[in-house]
Amino acid sequence: MSENCSQSCETCDETCTDRKAPDVFAKEKLHEFSRVKKVYAVVSGKGGVGKSLVTALCAVAMRKERYRVAVLDADITGPSMPKAFGLKDKAKATHYGILPETSKTGIDVMSINLLLERDTDPVVWRGPMIAGVVKQFWSEVIWQDEDYMFIDMPPGTGDVALTVFQNLPVDGIIIVTSPQELVSMIVEKAVKMAEKMDIPVIGLVENLSYFHCPDNGKDYKIFGDSHIDEIAQKYNLQILAKLPIQPEVAALCDQGCIEDAELGHMKQIVEILK
Ligand SMILES: Nc1ncnc2c1ncn2[C@@H]1O[C@H](COP(=O)(O)OP(=O)(O)OP(=O)(O)O)[C@@H](O)[C@H]1O
Ligand SMILES: [Mg+2]
Repeated sequence: MSENCSQSCETCDETCTDRKAPDVFAKEKLHEFSRVKKVYAVVSGKGGVGKSLVTALCAVAMRKERYRVAVLDADITGPSMPKAFGLKDKAKATHYGILPETSKTGIDVMSINLLLERDTDPVVWRGPMIAGVVKQFWSEVIWQDEDYMFIDMPPGTGDVALTVFQNLPVDGIIIVTSPQELVSMIVEKAVKMAEKMDIPVIGLVENLSYFHCPDNGKDYKIFGDSHIDEIAQKYNLQILAKLPIQPEVAALCDQGCIEDAELGHMKQIVEILK
């Protein structure tokens, strides 16, 4: 082994006898009964800005267009997809693999909460184990003929993000931000990560953009002025949606009825993803 070995043949520049053949870095294999055409990962720089809501709304909006849609909940320690879609039953294992649960409009979902006996059980696992589960969600779940898969990512650019981008054939990244974040820095980090992984950024979603008052018809910028247009221009990215604060949508999420949400603000993103 070379003395400059970085322990990671994938990134190491050294040539040495211990170097592993490149195919050990090949993408995780999809289950033989699965077909998934397009895979989009929904990311953000920090927690709580609305990734899960945006993931769910993207899935619902594409399903409304009659596509076959899947949601892979890669947030293993904070899964939220089963609740948003009102899934109460556990996923079923068959001889051939695990079957995702299907929502009432026909969206296939896999999440750790569909496998744990009790939803309230915490997942206290180390990184490699969590990464292993995410990979299994790709390779051991029978995703039958999906046009679109949306991956709900945990916050940040850590372990799981790396696992997903290195092991799953992600076609694009959707970055979710909110006005009060240090948007420029966060977007730059996500863009750089995407560049490193050689995955295109589909665009930006600004969540919690404003609140539209139903009483007086005015828009209020609760979290301050948006800088999303400048940022999009700076990094040459598309704006996919500006989503207002909608307490009724949060309530639908909590009630497991996200499929009943009004999708007016999702029109542009649907056109871009199609
Ligand atoms: N536009 C919105 N209007 C109203 N409520 C929203 C909106 N966006 C998100 N929320 C609510 O804010 C909370 C956090 O959103 P969400 O869970 O989607 O964030 P997240 O980025 O996935 O968080 P985490 O990083 O913890 O996974 C949820 O209760 C969600 O319903
Ligand atoms: Mg989330």
